[in-house]
Amino acid sequence: MVGRVTVQDAAPTLLKTPPGDNGLPLIGHSLDFARGKLAATHYWYDRYGPVSVTRAFGNTWIQCDGPDACGAVLTDRDRVFDSSGWQLLIGPFFSRGLMLLDGLEHHRHRRIMQGAFTADRLAGYLGPMNETIERGLAEWPVGQLRFYPTVKQLTLDVATRTFMADQVGQGSQRVNDAFSDSVRAATSFVRFPVPGLRWSRGLAGRRLLEDYLRPRIPAHRASDGDDLFTALCHAQSEDGESFSDDDVVNHMIFLLMAAHDTSTSTLTTMAYYLAKHPEWQERCREESRAVGAGPVEYGDLNKLVSLDLVMKESMRLVTPVPGVTRRAGRDTELLGFRVPAGSYLAVHLWGVHHLPELWPDPERFDPERFAEHRREDKVHRYAYMPFGNGVHKCIGMYFGGMEVKAAMHQLLQRYRLRVPGGYEMPVDWVSLPRPKDGLPITLERL
Ligand code: HEM
Repeated sequence: MVGRVTVQDAAPTLLKTPPGDNGLPLIGHSLDFARGKLAATHYWYDRYGPVSVTRAFGNTWIQCDGPDACGAVLTDRDRVFDSSGWQLLIGPFFSRGLMLLDGLEHHRHRRIMQGAFTADRLAGYLGPMNETIERGLAEWPVGQLRFYPTVKQLTLDVATRTFMADQVGQGSQRVNDAFSDSVRAATSFVRFPVPGLRWSRGLAGRRLLEDYLRPRIPAHRASDGDDLFTALCHAQSEDGESFSDDDVVNHMIFLLMAAHDTSTSTLTTMAYYLAKHPEWQERCREESRAVGAGPVEYGDLNKLVSLDLVMKESMRLVTPVPGVTRRAGRDTELLGFRVPAGSYLAVHLWGVHHLPELWPDPERFDPERFAEHRREDKVHRYAYMPFGNGVHKCIGMYFGGMEVKAAMHQLLQRYRLRVPGGYEMPVDWVSLPRPKDGLPITLERL
Protein backbone atom coordinates (compact mmCIF):
# COMPACT_ATOMS: atom_id res chain seq x y z
CA MET A 1 0.00 0.00 0.00
CA VAL A 2 1.34 3.44 -0.85
CA GLY A 3 0.84 5.78 2.05
CA ARG A 4 2.19 8.94 3.50
CA VAL A 5 5.73 8.46 4.78
CA THR A 6 5.80 9.52 8.41
CA VAL A 7 8.64 10.44 10.67
CA GLN A 8 8.40 7.08 12.43
CA ASP A 9 8.56 4.83 9.36
CA ALA A 10 10.83 6.92 7.13
CA ALA A 11 14.22 5.42 6.48
CA PRO A 12 16.03 8.73 5.83
CA THR A 13 18.35 7.17 3.24
CA LEU A 14 15.35 6.24 1.07
CA LEU A 15 14.24 9.82 0.87
CA LYS A 16 15.42 12.18 -1.83
CA THR A 17 17.34 15.36 -1.06
CA PRO A 18 15.29 18.28 -2.40
CA PRO A 19 16.57 19.96 -5.55
CA GLY A 20 17.72 23.56 -5.34
CA ASP A 21 20.60 25.97 -5.60
CA ASN A 22 22.81 27.64 -3.04
CA GLY A 23 23.03 31.05 -4.68
CA LEU A 24 26.26 33.01 -4.32
CA PRO A 25 29.34 31.59 -2.58
CA LEU A 26 29.33 32.20 1.21
CA ILE A 27 26.20 34.39 1.38
CA GLY A 28 23.90 32.08 -0.57
CA HIS A 29 20.56 33.79 -1.29
CA SER A 30 20.80 36.09 1.78
CA LEU A 31 20.80 39.28 -0.28
CA ASP A 32 17.79 38.20 -2.31
CA PHE A 33 15.87 37.47 0.89
CA ALA A 34 17.03 40.66 2.63
CA ARG A 35 15.88 42.70 -0.37
CA GLY A 36 12.60 40.80 -0.64
CA LYS A 37 13.47 39.96 -4.24
CA LEU A 38 12.05 36.44 -4.32
CA ALA A 39 9.03 36.95 -2.02
CA ALA A 40 6.56 37.57 -4.83
CA THR A 41 7.93 35.23 -7.50
CA HIS A 42 7.63 31.58 -8.45
CA TYR A 43 11.44 31.32 -8.52
CA TRP A 44 11.63 28.11 -6.47
CA TYR A 45 8.45 26.45 -7.68
CA ASP A 46 9.13 27.00 -11.38
CA ARG A 47 12.67 25.68 -11.18
CA TYR A 48 12.47 22.92 -8.58
CA GLY A 49 8.83 22.22 -7.70
CA PRO A 50 7.07 22.38 -4.33
CA VAL A 51 10.05 21.46 -2.12
CA SER A 52 13.55 22.81 -2.73
CA VAL A 53 16.64 23.68 -0.76
CA THR A 54 18.95 26.67 -0.56
CA ARG A 55 21.32 28.57 1.73
CA ALA A 56 20.70 31.96 3.34
CA PHE A 57 21.83 33.78 6.48
CA GLY A 58 24.30 30.95 7.20
CA ASN A 59 21.59 28.26 7.31
CA THR A 60 19.94 25.64 5.15
CA TRP A 61 16.48 26.74 4.06
CA ILE A 62 13.84 24.43 2.64
CA GLN A 63 11.54 26.36 0.32
CA CYS A 64 7.94 25.15 0.47
CA ASP A 65 5.57 26.19 -2.26
CA GLY A 66 2.20 24.94 -3.45
CA PRO A 67 -0.71 23.94 -1.23
CA ASP A 68 0.46 20.42 -0.32
CA ALA A 69 3.89 21.39 0.95
CA CYS A 70 2.70 24.57 2.69
CA GLY A 71 -0.37 22.86 4.17
CA ALA A 72 1.70 19.93 5.49
CA VAL A 73 4.19 22.20 7.25
CA LEU A 74 1.57 24.48 8.80
CA THR A 75 -0.73 21.72 10.01
CA ASP A 76 2.34 19.78 11.23
CA ARG A 77 0.59 16.52 12.02
CA ASP A 78 3.73 14.90 13.44
CA ARG A 79 4.56 17.93 15.63
CA VAL A 80 8.02 18.26 14.07
CA PHE A 81 8.19 21.94 13.22
CA ASP A 82 8.78 24.74 15.70
CA SER A 83 8.87 28.50 15.55
CA SER A 84 12.67 28.86 15.78
CA GLY A 85 12.54 30.21 12.23
CA TRP A 86 10.70 33.25 13.57
CA GLN A 87 13.07 33.35 16.51
CA LEU A 88 15.96 33.61 14.06
CA LEU A 89 14.32 36.39 12.04
CA ILE A 90 12.49 38.53 14.61
CA GLY A 91 13.31 36.99 18.03
CA PRO A 92 15.34 39.91 19.42
CA PHE A 93 12.58 42.37 18.54
CA PHE A 94 9.45 40.33 19.30
CA SER A 95 10.75 38.12 22.07
CA ARG A 96 8.12 35.78 23.56
CA GLY A 97 5.31 37.04 21.35
CA LEU A 98 2.65 34.34 20.88
CA MET A 99 3.91 33.38 17.42
CA LEU A 100 7.37 32.71 18.86
CA LEU A 101 6.18 30.24 21.50
CA ASP A 102 5.87 26.49 20.98
CA GLY A 103 4.20 23.37 22.28
CA LEU A 104 2.41 23.43 25.61
CA GLU A 105 3.62 26.88 26.48
CA HIS A 106 2.17 28.25 23.23
CA HIS A 107 -1.07 26.39 23.87
CA ARG A 108 -1.33 27.81 27.40
CA HIS A 109 -0.66 31.39 26.31
CA ARG A 110 -3.03 31.11 23.36
CA ARG A 111 -5.84 29.90 25.62
CA ILE A 112 -5.38 32.88 27.91
CA MET A 113 -5.16 35.30 24.98
CA GLN A 114 -8.41 33.99 23.47
CA GLY A 115 -10.12 35.87 26.29
CA ALA A 116 -9.13 39.14 24.59
CA PHE A 117 -10.65 38.07 21.26
CA THR A 118 -14.16 36.89 22.14
CA ALA A 119 -17.12 38.27 20.15
CA ASP A 120 -18.05 40.49 23.13
CA ARG A 121 -14.55 41.92 23.31
CA LEU A 122 -14.48 42.51 19.53
CA ALA A 123 -17.79 44.33 19.67
CA GLY A 124 -16.35 46.43 22.52
CA TYR A 125 -13.27 47.40 20.46
CA LEU A 126 -15.38 48.51 17.51
CA GLY A 127 -16.86 51.62 19.20
CA PRO A 128 -13.53 53.39 19.95
CA MET A 129 -12.16 52.06 16.66
CA ASN A 130 -14.98 53.72 14.73
CA GLU A 131 -14.59 57.01 16.60
CA THR A 132 -10.85 57.12 15.88
CA ILE A 133 -11.43 56.34 12.22
CA GLU A 134 -14.09 59.03 11.95
CA ARG A 135 -11.87 61.65 13.57
CA GLY A 136 -8.83 60.62 11.53
CA LEU A 137 -10.62 60.62 8.17
CA ALA A 138 -12.10 64.06 8.85
CA GLU A 139 -8.55 65.41 8.82
CA TRP A 140 -7.53 63.81 5.53
CA PRO A 141 -6.94 66.40 2.81
CA VAL A 142 -8.89 66.14 -0.42
CA GLY A 143 -6.83 65.99 -3.61
CA GLN A 144 -3.78 63.86 -4.06
CA LEU A 145 -2.12 62.17 -1.10
CA ARG A 146 0.22 59.26 -0.49
CA PHE A 147 -2.21 56.66 0.75
CA TYR A 148 0.18 54.30 2.54
CA PRO A 149 1.72 56.73 5.08
CA THR A 150 -1.66 58.39 5.57
CA VAL A 151 -3.51 55.17 6.33
CA LYS A 152 -0.57 53.93 8.41
CA GLN A 153 -1.02 56.95 10.66
CA LEU A 154 -4.74 56.12 10.86
CA THR A 155 -4.12 52.48 11.82
CA LEU A 156 -1.55 53.62 14.37
CA ASP A 157 -4.10 56.02 15.88
CA VAL A 158 -6.61 53.15 15.94
CA ALA A 159 -4.04 50.96 17.72
CA THR A 160 -3.17 53.72 20.19
CA ARG A 161 -6.84 54.03 21.14
CA THR A 162 -8.11 50.48 20.68
CA PHE A 163 -5.08 48.69 22.08
CA MET A 164 -4.06 51.07 24.84
CA ALA A 165 -6.96 53.48 25.42
CA ASP A 166 -4.35 56.24 25.03
CA GLN A 167 -5.34 59.48 23.43
CA VAL A 168 -3.95 59.90 19.96
CA GLY A 169 -1.09 62.33 20.41
CA GLN A 170 2.48 63.24 20.05
CA GLY A 171 4.02 59.96 21.15
CA SER A 172 2.49 58.26 18.12
CA GLN A 173 5.19 59.01 15.56
CA ARG A 174 7.95 57.67 17.82
CA VAL A 175 5.92 54.53 18.49
CA ASN A 176 5.09 54.19 14.80
CA ASP A 177 8.79 54.38 13.91
CA ALA A 178 9.63 51.89 16.64
CA PHE A 179 7.20 49.30 15.17
CA SER A 180 8.49 49.83 11.66
CA ASP A 181 12.12 49.57 12.73
CA SER A 182 11.43 46.36 14.63
CA VAL A 183 9.58 44.75 11.72
CA ARG A 184 12.10 45.73 9.08
CA ALA A 185 14.99 44.53 11.23
CA ALA A 186 13.82 40.98 10.51
CA THR A 187 15.34 41.13 7.05
CA SER A 188 18.63 42.78 8.06
CA PHE A 189 21.57 41.59 6.05
CA VAL A 190 23.97 42.51 8.89
CA ARG A 191 22.48 40.49 11.74
CA PHE A 192 24.23 42.07 14.71
CA PRO A 193 24.09 45.57 16.17
CA VAL A 194 25.98 48.20 14.15
CA PRO A 195 24.88 51.74 15.01
CA GLY A 196 22.67 53.21 12.31
CA LEU A 197 21.94 49.87 10.60
CA ARG A 198 18.61 48.07 10.51
CA TRP A 199 19.35 45.53 13.28
CA SER A 200 20.37 48.24 15.79
CA ARG A 201 17.35 50.34 14.92
CA GLY A 202 15.13 47.30 15.56
CA LEU A 203 16.64 46.76 19.03
CA ALA A 204 16.20 50.45 19.87
CA GLY A 205 12.58 50.17 18.70
CA ARG A 206 12.00 47.23 21.04
CA ARG A 207 13.42 49.17 24.01
CA LEU A 208 11.24 52.15 23.23
CA LEU A 209 8.13 49.98 23.09
CA GLU A 210 8.96 48.33 26.43
CA ASP A 211 9.52 51.73 28.06
CA TYR A 212 6.25 52.93 26.63
CA LEU A 213 4.16 49.97 27.82
CA ARG A 214 5.57 48.80 31.15
CA PRO A 215 4.72 51.88 33.23
CA ARG A 216 1.16 51.71 31.93
CA ILE A 217 0.44 48.17 33.25
CA PRO A 218 -0.83 49.06 36.75
CA ALA A 219 -3.42 51.44 35.32
CA HIS A 220 -4.69 48.79 32.90
CA ARG A 221 -4.79 46.10 35.59
CA ALA A 222 -7.01 48.43 37.60
CA SER A 223 -9.14 49.48 34.64
CA ASP A 224 -12.36 47.96 33.27
CA GLY A 225 -11.78 49.65 29.90
CA ASP A 226 -12.65 48.40 26.44
CA ASP A 227 -9.07 48.28 25.13
CA LEU A 228 -6.93 45.27 24.25
CA PHE A 229 -4.25 46.13 26.86
CA THR A 230 -6.87 45.95 29.62
CA ALA A 231 -8.30 42.76 28.09
CA LEU A 232 -4.84 41.12 28.18
CA CYS A 233 -4.31 42.23 31.79
CA HIS A 234 -7.59 40.54 32.74
CA ALA A 235 -7.57 37.59 30.32
CA GLN A 236 -7.90 34.17 31.95
CA SER A 237 -7.98 30.66 30.58
CA GLU A 238 -10.73 28.26 31.64
CA ASP A 239 -8.33 27.02 34.34
CA GLY A 240 -7.99 30.54 35.73
CA GLU A 241 -4.44 31.14 34.43
CA SER A 242 -3.49 34.71 33.55
CA PHE A 243 -0.54 36.72 32.19
CA SER A 244 2.36 38.14 34.24
CA ASP A 245 3.48 41.73 33.64
CA ASP A 246 6.31 40.48 31.41
CA ASP A 247 3.85 38.39 29.41
CA VAL A 248 1.59 41.39 28.93
CA VAL A 249 4.47 43.56 27.64
CA ASN A 250 5.74 40.84 25.30
CA HIS A 251 2.29 40.06 23.93
CA MET A 252 1.37 43.71 23.52
CA ILE A 253 4.51 44.46 21.50
CA PHE A 254 3.88 41.48 19.26
CA LEU A 255 0.16 42.21 18.88
CA LEU A 256 0.74 45.86 18.04
CA MET A 257 3.12 44.81 15.31
CA ALA A 258 0.99 41.91 14.09
CA ALA A 259 -2.10 44.09 13.83
CA HIS A 260 -0.63 47.35 12.61
CA ASP A 261 1.38 46.57 9.49
CA THR A 262 -0.91 43.81 8.25
CA SER A 263 -4.01 46.02 8.41
CA THR A 264 -2.13 48.92 6.81
CA SER A 265 -0.94 46.70 4.00
CA THR A 266 -4.40 45.23 3.41
CA LEU A 267 -6.12 48.65 3.40
CA THR A 268 -3.52 50.00 0.97
CA THR A 269 -3.99 47.11 -1.45
CA MET A 270 -7.77 47.45 -1.24
CA ALA A 271 -7.59 51.20 -1.90
CA TYR A 272 -5.37 50.53 -4.89
CA TYR A 273 -7.68 47.97 -6.48
CA LEU A 274 -10.83 49.94 -5.65
CA ALA A 275 -9.30 53.03 -7.28
CA LYS A 276 -8.40 50.96 -10.36
CA HIS A 277 -11.82 49.30 -10.51
CA PRO A 278 -14.48 52.01 -10.06
CA GLU A 279 -17.27 49.49 -10.63
CA TRP A 280 -16.19 47.56 -7.50
CA GLN A 281 -15.71 50.81 -5.61
CA GLU A 282 -19.29 51.83 -6.44
CA ARG A 283 -20.64 48.41 -5.54
CA CYS A 284 -18.97 48.52 -2.11
CA ARG A 285 -20.11 52.11 -1.56
CA GLU A 286 -23.71 51.20 -2.35
CA GLU A 287 -23.60 48.40 0.18
CA SER A 288 -22.15 50.71 2.80
CA ARG A 289 -24.86 53.26 2.15
CA ALA A 290 -27.50 50.56 2.42
CA VAL A 291 -26.14 49.57 5.84
CA GLY A 292 -26.53 53.17 6.97
CA ALA A 293 -24.56 56.40 7.02
CA GLY A 294 -21.71 56.74 9.50
CA PRO A 295 -19.71 54.06 11.29
CA VAL A 296 -20.65 50.41 10.89
CA GLU A 297 -22.25 48.52 13.78
CA TYR A 298 -20.81 45.17 14.81
CA GLY A 299 -23.97 43.31 13.75
CA ASP A 300 -23.84 44.89 10.27
CA LEU A 301 -20.28 43.92 9.38
CA ASN A 302 -21.39 40.75 7.62
CA LYS A 303 -23.71 42.78 5.38
CA LEU A 304 -20.67 44.34 3.66
CA VAL A 305 -20.50 41.37 1.31
CA SER A 306 -18.71 43.02 -1.62
CA LEU A 307 -16.16 44.65 0.67
CA ASP A 308 -15.46 41.20 2.07
CA LEU A 309 -14.86 39.83 -1.44
CA VAL A 310 -12.54 42.75 -2.24
CA MET A 311 -10.62 42.23 1.01
CA LYS A 312 -10.13 38.53 0.27
CA GLU A 313 -9.00 39.16 -3.30
CA SER A 314 -6.65 41.95 -2.18
CA MET A 315 -5.05 39.63 0.40
CA ARG A 316 -4.65 36.97 -2.26
CA LEU A 317 -2.99 39.31 -4.75
CA VAL A 318 -0.76 41.20 -2.32
CA THR A 319 -0.55 38.71 0.53
CA PRO A 320 0.08 40.84 3.65
CA VAL A 321 2.24 38.12 5.23
CA PRO A 322 3.77 36.68 2.06
CA GLY A 323 5.58 33.88 3.83
CA VAL A 324 5.97 32.29 7.24
CA THR A 325 8.77 30.20 8.65
CA ARG A 326 9.41 27.12 10.78
CA ARG A 327 12.35 24.90 11.77
CA ALA A 328 12.49 21.12 11.75
CA GLY A 329 13.10 19.90 15.31
CA ARG A 330 14.14 16.44 14.06
CA ASP A 331 14.75 14.60 10.78
CA THR A 332 11.55 14.36 8.82
CA GLU A 333 10.12 14.21 5.32
CA LEU A 334 8.05 16.51 3.20
CA LEU A 335 6.31 15.19 0.08
CA GLY A 336 8.93 12.42 -0.04
CA PHE A 337 11.93 14.73 0.40
CA ARG A 338 14.36 14.57 3.27
CA VAL A 339 14.26 17.50 5.69
CA PRO A 340 17.20 17.23 8.08
CA ALA A 341 16.82 18.29 11.72
CA GLY A 342 17.75 21.94 12.18
CA SER A 343 16.79 23.11 8.70
CA TYR A 344 14.67 26.19 8.43
CA LEU A 345 11.57 26.19 6.25
CA ALA A 346 10.11 29.08 4.27
CA VAL A 347 6.39 28.59 3.67
CA HIS A 348 5.53 30.62 0.60
CA LEU A 349 1.94 31.81 1.08
CA TRP A 350 2.14 34.33 -1.77
CA GLY A 351 3.18 31.50 -4.09
CA VAL A 352 0.12 29.41 -3.20
CA HIS A 353 -2.15 32.41 -3.81
CA HIS A 354 -0.80 32.90 -7.33
CA LEU A 355 -0.58 29.37 -8.67
CA PRO A 356 -2.40 29.08 -12.02
CA GLU A 357 -3.29 25.46 -11.14
CA LEU A 358 -5.46 26.80 -8.32
CA TRP A 359 -6.48 30.26 -9.47
CA PRO A 360 -7.55 30.83 -13.08
CA ASP A 361 -5.88 33.96 -14.46
CA PRO A 362 -4.14 34.47 -11.09
CA GLU A 363 -2.90 38.03 -11.62
CA ARG A 364 -6.36 39.36 -12.48
CA PHE A 365 -8.31 41.29 -9.82
CA ASP A 366 -11.52 39.28 -9.67
CA PRO A 367 -13.16 39.41 -6.21
CA GLU A 368 -16.07 37.35 -7.49
CA ARG A 369 -13.84 34.27 -7.41
CA PHE A 370 -14.59 34.15 -3.67
CA ALA A 371 -18.37 34.44 -4.18
CA GLU A 372 -20.57 31.46 -3.23
CA HIS A 373 -21.18 30.42 -6.84
CA ARG A 374 -17.42 30.11 -7.52
CA ARG A 375 -15.44 29.69 -4.27
CA GLU A 376 -12.10 29.18 -6.02
CA ASP A 377 -10.51 29.26 -2.56
CA LYS A 378 -12.15 25.88 -1.88
CA VAL A 379 -10.50 24.12 -4.82
CA HIS A 380 -7.85 22.85 -2.41
CA ARG A 381 -7.94 22.75 1.38
CA TYR A 382 -4.78 24.88 1.54
CA ALA A 383 -5.35 27.10 -1.51
CA TYR A 384 -5.98 30.24 0.51
CA MET A 385 -4.15 30.97 3.75
CA PRO A 386 -3.63 34.71 4.28
CA PHE A 387 -4.00 34.09 8.03
CA GLY A 388 -1.87 30.94 8.06
CA ASN A 389 -3.10 27.56 9.30
CA GLY A 390 -2.59 25.10 12.15
CA VAL A 391 -1.84 26.00 15.76
CA HIS A 392 -0.37 29.41 14.90
CA LYS A 393 -3.27 30.52 12.70
CA CYS A 394 -3.83 34.23 13.21
CA ILE A 395 -5.68 34.87 16.47
CA GLY A 396 -6.51 38.39 15.25
CA MET A 397 -8.15 37.53 11.94
CA TYR A 398 -11.60 38.74 12.97
CA PHE A 399 -10.12 41.79 14.66
CA GLY A 400 -8.11 42.57 11.51
CA GLY A 401 -11.09 42.04 9.19
CA MET A 402 -13.23 44.24 11.43
CA GLU A 403 -10.70 47.08 11.43
CA VAL A 404 -10.15 46.95 7.68
CA LYS A 405 -13.88 46.91 6.90
CA ALA A 406 -14.74 49.59 9.48
CA ALA A 407 -12.12 51.92 7.96
CA MET A 408 -13.02 51.23 4.32
CA HIS A 409 -16.74 51.54 5.07
CA GLN A 410 -16.27 55.11 6.33
CA LEU A 411 -13.68 56.02 3.71
CA LEU A 412 -15.93 55.03 0.80
CA GLN A 413 -18.83 57.04 2.17
CA ARG A 414 -16.68 60.18 2.33
CA TYR A 415 -14.44 59.96 -0.70
CA ARG A 416 -14.12 58.64 -4.21
CA LEU A 417 -10.66 57.11 -4.81
CA ARG A 418 -8.87 57.60 -8.13
CA VAL A 419 -5.54 56.64 -9.68
CA PRO A 420 -4.41 57.61 -13.18
CA GLY A 421 -5.33 55.09 -15.92
CA GLY A 422 -2.57 52.52 -16.40
CA TYR A 423 -1.05 53.11 -12.94
CA GLU A 424 0.51 49.96 -11.44
CA MET A 425 1.45 49.99 -7.76
CA PRO A 426 5.16 49.09 -7.33
CA VAL A 427 5.43 46.85 -4.25
CA ASP A 428 8.39 46.67 -1.86
CA TRP A 429 8.48 43.10 -0.49
CA VAL A 430 11.10 43.67 2.20
CA SER A 431 9.26 42.45 5.33
CA LEU A 432 5.53 43.12 4.77
CA PRO A 433 4.41 44.47 1.37
CA ARG A 434 4.07 48.21 0.92
CA PRO A 435 4.03 50.53 -2.10
CA LYS A 436 7.44 51.89 -3.04
CA ASP A 437 5.84 55.19 -4.07
CA GLY A 438 3.47 55.38 -1.07
CA LEU A 439 0.52 54.89 -3.48
CA PRO A 440 -0.38 58.35 -4.80
CA ILE A 441 -4.16 58.46 -4.85
CA THR A 442 -6.65 61.27 -5.48
CA LEU A 443 -9.49 61.67 -2.99
CA GLU A 444 -12.64 63.40 -4.18
CA ARG A 445 -15.09 64.39 -1.50
CA LEU A 446 -18.57 62.97 -2.11
C1 HEM B 1 -5.01 41.48 7.63
C2 HEM B 1 -4.57 41.27 8.81
C3 HEM B 1 -3.71 40.11 9.26
C4 HEM B 1 -3.05 39.15 8.54
C5 HEM B 1 -3.01 38.97 7.04
C6 HEM B 1 -2.40 38.27 9.50
C7 HEM B 1 -1.66 37.16 9.16
C8 HEM B 1 -1.14 36.27 10.08
C9 HEM B 1 -0.48 35.03 9.74
C10 HEM B 1 -0.18 34.53 8.34
C11 HEM B 1 -0.16 34.41 10.90
C12 HEM B 1 0.48 33.01 11.05
C13 HEM B 1 1.97 33.07 11.32
C14 HEM B 1 2.60 31.70 11.36
O1 HEM B 1 1.97 30.69 11.07
O2 HEM B 1 3.80 31.62 11.66
C15 HEM B 1 -0.61 35.25 11.98
C16 HEM B 1 -0.44 34.96 13.30
C17 HEM B 1 -0.79 35.83 14.31
N1 HEM B 1 -1.47 37.02 14.20
FE1 HEM B 1 -2.15 37.84 12.49
N2 HEM B 1 -2.66 38.74 10.74
C18 HEM B 1 -3.46 39.85 10.65
C19 HEM B 1 -3.96 40.63 11.68
C20 HEM B 1 -3.73 40.40 13.01
C21 HEM B 1 -4.28 41.19 14.08
C22 HEM B 1 -5.23 42.35 13.89
C23 HEM B 1 -3.80 40.66 15.24
C24 HEM B 1 -4.06 41.07 16.65
C25 HEM B 1 -4.91 41.98 17.03
C26 HEM B 1 -2.95 39.52 14.89
C27 HEM B 1 -2.29 38.72 15.77
C28 HEM B 1 -1.63 37.55 15.44
C29 HEM B 1 -1.03 36.67 16.41
C30 HEM B 1 -0.96 36.88 17.92
C31 HEM B 1 -0.49 35.59 15.71
C32 HEM B 1 0.26 34.39 16.28
C33 HEM B 1 -0.75 33.32 16.62
C34 HEM B 1 -0.10 32.09 17.28
O3 HEM B 1 1.10 31.92 17.16
O4 HEM B 1 -0.85 31.34 17.90
N3 HEM B 1 -2.94 39.40 13.53
N4 HEM B 1 -1.21 36.37 11.46
